Amino acid sequence: MDDKPTVLKLGGSVITNKEKPLTPDLKAIERLTTEISRAKVSSLVLVHGGGSFGHPVAERYNIAGGYVDQSQILGFSQTHLAMTLLNSWVMEALINHNIPALEIHPSSCAVTKFGRIVNMELKPLKKMLKLGFMPVLYGDAVLDSKQGFAILSGDQLVSSLAIKLGACRIIMGADVDGLYTADPKVFSSAQLISHLTLEELKSLEHKIEGSKTTDVTGGMLGKIHEVKLAIEHDIETVIVNATKSLRVYNALKGEKVIGTIIEKG
Ligand code: IPE
Repeated sequence: MDDKPTVLKLGGSVITNKEKPLTPDLKAIERLTTEISRAKVSSLVLVHGGGSFGHPVAERYNIAGGYVDQSQILGFSQTHLAMTLLNSWVMEALINHNIPALEIHPSSCAVTKFGRIVNMELKPLKKMLKLGFMPVLYGDAVLDSKQGFAILSGDQLVSSLAIKLGACRIIMGADVDGLYTADPKVFSSAQLISHLTLEELKSLEHKIEGSKTTDVTGGMLGKIHEVKLAIEHDIETVIVNATKSLRVYNALKGEKVIGTIIEKG
C-alpha cells in the first residue's frame, strides 16, 4: 500500500473528439479504462487533459491570459464546468470497471503564480492513495496569485505531482507514438526515438526551439518542458500512443512497449 505511485496522463486528444466541441470519445475511454483496470497497478494517479471540452471554452474567454475584465469570470466557471463534464465520463467508466477512482478538482486545491503551481493541498490525495483509491485530476482553470486566474495543464500537474509524491514513473498517453528525430507528419524519414537520456532530451529540445517554424516532435515541445522537471528528479518517463490498443496497458505493466523512454541517465 505504501509503494511509490505511478502517474498516468491521458491526453485530451485521446479521450475526446477534437473536431466536435464537448464530445467525449467514449470508445477510447472504455478501452483505456479497461486497460487500466486489467493492469492492476497498486498505486496510480490519473491525470487527463481537456481536448474539445476545456480548450475551446478557455480560449473563448482567454482564461490562460489571466484577468482582464469581469466578463471572464463566467467564462472561468464555464471552463471548469466543461472539464467536470469530461471528468464525469472518465469517472463513470473507471468506477464501472470496479476501480475505486476519486476525482480531485484542481480549481479547488491548487493556486498558481503566472501559471505555475505555487500551492497545492495534497493531504487528501495522499490519504486516498494510502487507502487504495485512484485519485483522478485534470487540466483545469485555477486561481492565480498574480494574474487572477490561469490554465493549469494536465502536463504540469503530472510532473508536479510525480515530484511531490516521489513517483516511480510517469506514463504520458499521447496521440503520437513518442518523440521523433524530425516531425513525422512532415518528414517520412523521421524515426521514433525509443530511449533518451536527460542530456539528449535537452539537446533535442534546443533543436526544436531553434527551428521555431516546425515542432520536430509533432506538438510535443510543451510536454518535454514539463516532464524534464520530473526526469531531473530521477523519475523515469515513458511517452506512448494511447490511441493504440494495449500501449498504455503494456506501459503500466512495465512491459516492453513502442514509445519513448526518457531517463536521467
Ligand atoms: C487543458 O489541459 C485544460 C483546459 C484547457 C481547461 P491539458 O493541456 O492537459 O489538455 P490536453 O491534454 O492538451 O487536451
